[in-house]
Amino acid sequence: MIEVENLTKNYGSYQALKGISFTVKKGEILGFLGPNGAGKTTTMRILTGFFPATSGKAKVAGFDVFEEPLEVKKRIGYLPENVPLYRDMVVSDYLRFTAGIKGIKKMDIGDRVRKVMQDCALTDVSHKLIGELSKGYRQRVGLAQALVNDPEVLILDEPTIGLDPKQIIEIRKLIKNLAGKRTIILSTHILPEVSMTCQRVVIINKGEVVAVDTPQNLTSKIYGRNKLIIRIDGPSGDIQRELKTVRGVDKVEVKEVMSGSVSEYIVDIKEGEDPRRWVASQVVKNGWGLLEMRPLEMSLEEIFIKLVTKE
Ligand SMILES: Nc1ncnc2c1ncn2[C@@H]1O[C@H](COP(=O)(O)OP(=O)(O)O)[C@@H](O)[C@H]1O
Ligand SMILES: [Mg+2]
Repeated sequence: MIEVENLTKNYGSYQALKGISFTVKKGEILGFLGPNGAGKTTTMRILTGFFPATSGKAKVAGFDVFEEPLEVKKRIGYLPENVPLYRDMVVSDYLRFTAGIKGIKKMDIGDRVRKVMQDCALTDVSHKLIGELSKGYRQRVGLAQALVNDPEVLILDEPTIGLDPKQIIEIRKLIKNLAGKRTIILSTHILPEVSMTCQRVVIINKGEVVAVDTPQNLTSKIYGRNKLIIRIDGPSGDIQRELKTVRGVDKVEVKEVMSGSVSEYIVDIKEGEDPRRWVASQVVKNGWGLLEMRPLEMSLEEIFIKLVTKE
């Protein structure tokens, strides 16, 4: 549905995008993740035809964004970083107005506006002034204007920025409900957001793609299964010494003393080995208590830091 190939964008002599490529399949929610200044907004502006790229190619629904921008705009709904809302307009009037701009037939406008107000839970505030709404409601109005032409593709630039935790949960739920028939790109600099909302993640940093994967795979790939966290009740010195002799174990360290004789250990695993069963039997053989054993997984935060500080 979306194909981006080797996009570059220069602002004067500054190269904000250095050759970005990725694709988004129909019906997919793609997380576009990167720290501030990575080039997320720049990429989205190119995709929505806000400005051209310096070089490279981008296609939406089979149409080239540079050669057929009108065909692309018809199929895209865009929630920009800062939605330009008219504060002294009533919600329903504003949505009717944007529907008109987007070329929806007069006779269909009423129905479309009712539908998006329902989908975005705005019906209760339809007669309120936009300027009087909370930030969370204003963001829903932004989402509604992006949806009013029933686009196949939705481009959402940091849709939860500036919202409180309750509003964030509501907007995420809304976005999830929009998925399925629509293809969505959602940018964010907040990592948990992508694991909650997206099926696939493109991570960019300084205008370059540094990783593309599912949130789950990113976690296991970078960390692999090469560390275990084990909680054992028993004499710490003996445990460390004995576990080191277990097949497949490389290194044993105390991670944290929990209470009394209970500690958590980090066990480094040798490449390609899975020593869990041997660790377990060693613990039992020595009469210690095996309270917990799990792979050490990295949070997306940690993965992200690892990826962007690799160079
Ligand atoms: N209009 C502009 N003129 C000059 N530099 C810009 C402009 N817009 C963005 N930049 C720069 O390009 C880089 C990428 O910006 P942006 O795409 O907004 O990143 P993000 O959305 O990931 O925070 C940043 O270093 C930013 O300062
Ligand atoms: Mg941005």
